Amino acid sequence: MKVEALFKMTYGMYIISTEYEGKKNGQVANVGGQITDKPARVSICLNKNNLTCELVQKRKAFTLAILNEDAPLKYIGNFGFKSGRDVEKFENSKYIESKNFKLPIPTEYTVSYLEAEVEEVQDMGNYCVFIGKVVDADIIGEGNPMTYAYYHKVKGGLTQKNAPTYVDPKTAKA
Ligand SMILES: Cc1cc2nc3c(=O)[nH]c(=O)nc-3n(C[C@H](O)[C@H](O)[C@H](O)COP(=O)(O)O)c2cc1C
Repeated sequence: MKVEALFKMTYGMYIISTEYEGKKNGQVANVGGQITDKPARVSICLNKNNLTCELVQKRKAFTLAILNEDAPLKYIGNFGFKSGRDVEKFENSKYIESKNFKLPIPTEYTVSYLEAEVEEVQDMGNYCVFIGKVVDADIIGEGNPMTYAYYHKVKGGLTQKNAPTYVDPKTAKA
C-alpha cells in the first residue's frame, strides 16, 4: 500500500466547539464533512485525548466553524495546539451562541458555521467519529474557506499529533 496516496486527499479547516456544565471549549479539526442531505448530516473525527472529544460525548452536540484563509497561525494555534484542560480558549476569542444548544461559535475568521446534534458515535480506537444532524447553519463572514493544503503550503502550518491525518515528519516521504 502506498500511504502517500492518502496525502492527496483534500480537507477543510474547522473549529469544533461545544460546552458542558459551563466549560466552553473548541479545537481545530481538518477531518470532517457533510455525509447526507435530507437531513443534512456531518461527521467529525476527534481524538479521545482531546477535551473537545470528551465534552462532545457528554453534551451530544457541537458547532463547526469553517475558517477563512485569513486566519493567522496564532489563532489556529490557540485552538489546535493547546488543550482546554490547560487554558480557557474562549477567554480572548470572540464568539456567538448557537440557537438551539447555546454552544459557542467562534466568529473571527469564520466564513460559515453549522450547529449539530449528535446522532451516533463510533468508537475508532484512539478516535471517536461523531455523526451529527445539522440543526442550524449560517454564513457570517467573507473570504475563501481555508483548505488543509493551503494551511500547510501557504501558511506554513504544522499538524498536531492528535489529528487523524498526522504524519510523523521522520517517516514522511511526501
Ligand atoms: C491543522 C490541524 C488539524 C487538526 N485536525 C484534528 C482532527 O481532525 N481531529 C482531532 O481530534 N484533532 C485534530 N487536531 C488536533 C487538535 O486540534 C488538538 O489536539 C487540540 O489541542 C485539542 O484541544 P482540546 O484538548 O482543547 O480539545 C488538529 C490540529 C491541527 C493544528
